[in-house]
Amino acid sequence: MTRRNMHLSGAVMIALALAACGEGGSPTPAAETTQTQAAEPPAPTVPALTLSDLPAPYNEADLERGKAVFAKCRNCHSLVAAEGARVGPNLHGVFERPTASAEGFRYSPALAEWPEETWRPDLLEQWLEKPKDFLPGSSMFFNGIDDADDRRDVIAFLLIETRR
Ligand code: HEC
Repeated sequence: MTRRNMHLSGAVMIALALAACGEGGSPTPAAETTQTQAAEPPAPTVPALTLSDLPAPYNEADLERGKAVFAKCRNCHSLVAAEGARVGPNLHGVFERPTASAEGFRYSPALAEWPEETWRPDLLEQWLEKPKDFLPGSSMFFNGIDDADDRRDVIAFLLIETRR
């Protein structure tokens, strides 16, 4: 929802910039228009979900709060496929792909050899509560999230945002 708003306001900004150009009398070069279109994000590969599509208890989450909690992860993880890895792997589509499978990312043996096939929300919940205890030897150096509501909210946020 919020991202969509951001896209919208981005589009408004571009429209304003173009309008300003027009007023100045200088014609908008065709090349510039093409570049703007090429910078559009690629079409989503899976349909985006909304809060009410999520399984309980995530359908009762506060997505704005989840977004705020994700600030703890953002330095290490991007959710936008085209942005690739940071300190940690790109998380786009993380619930649909096999665990430890982001292309080109060097996972720790602990995660690479972890037998779980996919990241289910309940597994992520346990990991985020106490990363060190849940997956010893992982290279994700993160202290964890104590508050259960914060974990629910950030996972709900991810269930939606990683599918855009
Ligand atoms: C200091 C950097 C850092 C922070 C902060 C961090 N991560 Fe990670 N994350 C990593 C690294 C590195 C890995 C790979 C771990 C490994 O290979 O053992 C990882 C792996 C993951 C994976 C598994 C991805 C896969 O492809 O299997 C998920 C899911 C994840 N992180 C979610 C989160 C969330 C959610 C947060 C915030 C609440 C977070 N991480 C915070 C660095 C970080």
